[in-house]
Amino acid sequence: MKGIPSTDMRIVESPADMQALSRTARTAGKTIALVPTMGYLHDGHASLMREGRKRADLLVMSIFVNPTQFGAGEDFDAYPRDLERDMRIAAEAGVDLIFAPKASQMYTAGYQTYVNVEDISLPLCGASRPGHFRGVTTVVAKLFNIVMPHVALFGKKDFQQLAVIRRMAADLNMDLEIVGMPIVREVDGLAMSSRNSYLSPEERRAALCLSRGIVEARKLFAFGERESGRLKGAVAAVIAAEPLAVSEYLELRDGGTLEEVAQAGSGTLLALAVRIGKTRLIDNCILGEPD
Ligand code: PAJ
Repeated sequence: MKGIPSTDMRIVESPADMQALSRTARTAGKTIALVPTMGYLHDGHASLMREGRKRADLLVMSIFVNPTQFGAGEDFDAYPRDLERDMRIAAEAGVDLIFAPKASQMYTAGYQTYVNVEDISLPLCGASRPGHFRGVTTVVAKLFNIVMPHVALFGKKDFQQLAVIRRMAADLNMDLEIVGMPIVREVDGLAMSSRNSYLSPEERRAALCLSRGIVEARKLFAFGERESGRLKGAVAAVIAAEPLAVSEYLELRDGGTLEEVAQAGSGTLLALAVRIGKTRLIDNCILGEPD
């Protein structure tokens, strides 16, 4: 029921069972919201669930560490997992049903179909993680087909991911609403991420250079700076001042098309990826707009 935290949350593993439950719910006239996650939940995920709770009768959250979006040598095996803790957080946020399939159920023997969104997948994380968005769009398209949601919620923390998924849904005439939600941050500014759990105390302090860089760019923009080079230079200086940080990319792009811009304006995306030790962190903002 809408708005009432459920006490009898279910876990479904099989895609066929999930699909049957969704079909039954739809036939009964119920609306479905989906929050796709890779688990190890934090308050960023919970904010998506709380919004999903408001928007539909049945709130489904998926937990699936999707192998096809991890490159060779990335952290697929090490990715943090804690289903019991996730279940508590999900129940508190009002999730009705957790869909948690096994990799072998999502990618069955002989699997060979992938969804690829072209240009908008290429820069930023697409350039530093080749094949990453192909894995994301493939699994999200599968989740949409299995859960059949009326609305699906994603965080702006992964700004390019949201843009790529919006493109896919529009291009493939997917019959659902995609909702983008604000970045949730720790009190000191660090964007919440499951990967923050990799950071040592020293690295955790160093990781603040991402949000500090963003604050610096926002400040300059508010004072009227529009030169892309100068805005990027100011953020780069904040990152360079942190000995444990290595910048992977730092770019200003159009928030709609993700094309590079020489002059910042309203709707300009500042996106950065930084390595703190072995941990890769991303953050972003739209200049002139709140998170
Ligand atoms: P995951 O990293 O678990 O994130 C799940 C969702 O939570 C994404 O939409 C992400 O943008 C959102 N999210 C993460 N941190 C957030 C924060 N600090 N504030 C607001 N939202 C935040 O993103 C994925 O999983 C996967 O790529 C997935 C879409 C599930 C496909 O496998």
